[in-house]
Amino acid sequence: MNTGTEKIIIAASILGADPLNLERDLKAVQETGQAEWVQVDVMDGLFAANLSFGPDTVAAIKKKFPFFIDVHLMMERPKNVLEAFARKGADLITVHLEAKDNPEECLRLIKNLGVKAGLAVKPKTPIKEIFPFLELLDLVLVMTVEPGFAGQGFLESCLPKIEEARRMIQKAGGGRWLEVDGGINDQTAPKAARAGADVLVCGSALFREPPKITLARMRETIQKTLK
Ligand code: DX5
Repeated sequence: MNTGTEKIIIAASILGADPLNLERDLKAVQETGQAEWVQVDVMDGLFAANLSFGPDTVAAIKKKFPFFIDVHLMMERPKNVLEAFARKGADLITVHLEAKDNPEECLRLIKNLGVKAGLAVKPKTPIKEIFPFLELLDLVLVMTVEPGFAGQGFLESCLPKIEEARRMIQKAGGGRWLEVDGGINDQTAPKAARAGADVLVCGSALFREPPKITLARMRETIQKTLK
């Protein structure tokens, strides 16, 4: 299903990195030249039962690394923090359709801040619910795990939803990334890519071994499947 045109982007999720050695882990990713983005997962302990990073982590990464910074807000009330993340260097901010704040208001605010806008859906949310917001979007994020923790298993049941999202984006003229996040490794990456994803978020599988090994293996399996 993948349109097969654009290169697959890999986003290194720092949720899977060593919190006491974030700079070391990101340097190892940068040296591979195989992951163009960094994803910063933000959780509020309400929308997802975890707490993670804030705007200052984005600023610190921006200061030291050239990565495109993708901020994924797993929050009930993301509106309050959009400006802070934008000011600190986020290149893209994604909010959840299931959040309590109005998605359209959040998306318009993100774009007015000069940042790319994404909308995410949890595994059980039908992808068609994204459709009314499509013209505001630079990215659609299909979660293949429940929000909250790295290291969960990829939900294969979401594959048809990724294909449906790809069809929806193509019908609307393309021009939007389709990102998949959750349980991505060298086995599941090809499946997600074949289903239509062009951005793959990888956390625990990426940092489980040296990134030069995990990323090379992932790129190889993705290449093979898209040939
Ligand atoms: C879940 C997070 C994770 C993270 C990636 O809330 O969104 O999916 O980005 O971690 P792994 O790759 O371990 O699922």
